[in-house]
Order: sequence, then structure tokens, then C-alpha cells
Amino acid sequence: MLTLNINGQDQELDVAADMPLLWVLRDVAHLTGTKFGCGMAQCGACTVHVDGAPRRSCITPAMAVAHGQKILTIEGLSTDGTHPVQQAWAELDVVQCGYCQSGQIMSAAALLAKIAQPTDSDIDQALSGNICRCGTYPRIRAAVKRAAELG
Ligand code: FES
Ligand code: FES
Repeated sequence: MLTLNINGQDQELDVAADMPLLWVLRDVAHLTGTKFGCGMAQCGACTVHVDGAPRRSCITPAMAVAHGQKILTIEGLSTDGTHPVQQAWAELDVVQCGYCQSGQIMSAAALLAKIAQPTDSDIDQALSGNICRCGTYPRIRAAVKRAAELG
């Protein structure tokens, strides 16, 4: 059994210590907002926060985050979709197919927690590992700036 702090709650979960956090979240904790894309830290679809920093959950073993680290998933970002990033995403209609978007939002939220008014270069750098096959990058960049205004 491992105890993971997910979205503010300690959960005792019966998982193998080396199970990737992504599968713990999706298959055991039933938090399916975090997506599987590549499984190799190449696409960002599986991005969550660990102690406030973005982390690729597909390559993070559960045991690596079972020592009181705070894991935040898209479900925990806000209780009602009112996080500034979520508001900006909705306002600017960023999403196309949607598959990459929880990872994009989590990376954007981590960036804004660190840099309240990011430049284009800050945004490009912070989100460069989040791939969008639908090419929503211009809307993502605009929405990060809008979220900074909503702050
Ligand atoms: S699924 Fe983790 S980076 Fe692609
Ligand atoms: S919205 Fe389709 S992959 Fe990004």
C-alpha cells in the first residue's frame, strides 16, 4: 500500500511501487482527466503538478511521489472550473479535439503560479513539451495571457 496525497486528500492505494503515477491516477484513483499520449515524456498529455511543479506522470513511479508530495490533477485545479486558466480556455475557445488540453492547462497553471505575467518566450518555454496535434498553439498562447489578466 502507498499513501498518495492527491488533490488535497491522502489516499491509501494498493499499487505496485513502480507503477507509473499516470496509471495510478487513471486506473486506481479513477481520475481520468490526465491523459496518456506517448508514455515516454515526449508529449505532455499526462502532465500533473507535484508540489506545484509540472511533472510527466507517465514516467513518474508512484513510489517517487508517496512521501507527502502534493499531487494535483486537472480535477483538483478548481472545484468548479473557475481557475483563471480554465476560464481563459473557455473564453477563448482553445480546445479542438481536447486530448492534449488537460496537460496544456496544467503546464500553463504551473507557469502562471511561478510567473504572473509571462512573456511569449516564457510561455513557449514552459509549454514547449506539450504537443497539440490539432495545432491550437496560437489560442493557447493567447489564453495564457488572458489567464494572467484574470489572475
Ligand atoms: S504520456 Fe506522458 S509525456 Fe506523453
Ligand atoms: S486539441 Fe487536439 S491534440 Fe490538442
